[in-house]
Amino acid sequence: MQSSFRDDLFVGHTLLITGGASGIGFGISQAFASHGADVVVVSRNEEKLQAACAELDKLGPGTPSYLVADVRDSDRIEELAKAHFKDGGKVDTLVNCAAGNFVTPFSAMSDGAWNSVVDIVLNGTYHVTRSFGGRMLEQSAGQEEPTANIQNIIAGYAWTGAPLVSHSGASKAGVLNLTRSLAIEWAPGVRLNAVSPGPIGGTEGMKRLAEDFGLGDAAAQAVPLQRLGSAGNIGDACLFLASPAAAYITGVCLPVDGGQDVRGPFWDLFGHLGQ
Ligand code: NAP
Ligand code: COA
Repeated sequence: MQSSFRDDLFVGHTLLITGGASGIGFGISQAFASHGADVVVVSRNEEKLQAACAELDKLGPGTPSYLVADVRDSDRIEELAKAHFKDGGKVDTLVNCAAGNFVTPFSAMSDGAWNSVVDIVLNGTYHVTRSFGGRMLEQSAGQEEPTANIQNIIAGYAWTGAPLVSHSGASKAGVLNLTRSLAIEWAPGVRLNAVSPGPIGGTEGMKRLAEDFGLGDAAAQAVPLQRLGSAGNIGDACLFLASPAAAYITGVCLPVDGGQDVRGPFWDLFGHLGQ
């Protein structure tokens, strides 16, 4: 499908994205690469990173590259950020998309289960934002209209709550608050926004939270727009938030969820009557 954005909109722009080699993150990487950006993907599995970069290389004039890292490893993230910014390296858009999640009742939660998700989602976002985002802030000092922006991928249950994913919900809520706090603390140098995807087809998240329980179709039906979203839908939202069209937008959370966030109680009662 023809993009709504100009092909060369992000030529000369660097995107650094955690978790950008699969699922929603790969959709975001593809969106930026297709519009000319140099995309740097950060995650753990080198084979997956290589395959993703080979695909990204076909999409536009930018140069894709990767960094192998576990976002839980604060020292490794700091070391990579230091090396990246040395000799004039830069990041215009940082997307924190890496996450871990699995369904588990709170009463059966082990310390290891809780800590693994909190460490990836909340602490991982903290490490990457501090090391890369902190340098983006320094870089934007003195610029009249800084391009630097950070986008955090969260989930709708960050503000509603949800059963069986309390570790992820608590972490995503923390990331949402961090987004808002830094939008104020780091203004005017860096804009920070959150993006909240609804159920996105073909992803590990959909598999773990719905399909593994035979709930794939039910998840689509629970969306007012009556379909699953695509990774490309999230990519488009991220392009918008990074673009000059969003230059005055900071501290918001943009749900890209087919209307799931605004269903309210009347959807359950009367939603089917309107269809
Ligand atoms: P995914 O493909 O499994 O994405 C997670 C990515 O994070 C993977 O590429 C993974 O790569 C990376 N990752 C995991 N742990 C990491 C770590 N410790 N250090 C560095 N990288 C790590 O799943 P997805 O469903 O597309 O989810 C992407 C994002 O969207 C997540 O933030 C998720 O919470 C959010 N989300 C998804 C949905 C949905 O419907 N799928 C809905 C709402 C929100 P490696 O394993 O190679 O490290
Ligand atoms: N149910 C309950 N507990 C689980 C679990 C499950 N399905 N999967 C893992 N755990 C627990 C483990 O038992 C362990 O706890 P313990 O030390 O008390 O035994 C803890 O979580 C860590 O497990 P481990 O396999 O060592 O974690 P890891 O750090 O290697 O991997 C995960 C992190 C568990 C989040 C892994 O699923 C992952 O890497 N996910 C990335 C992809 C993903 O989740 N995508 C969806 C995004 S929405």
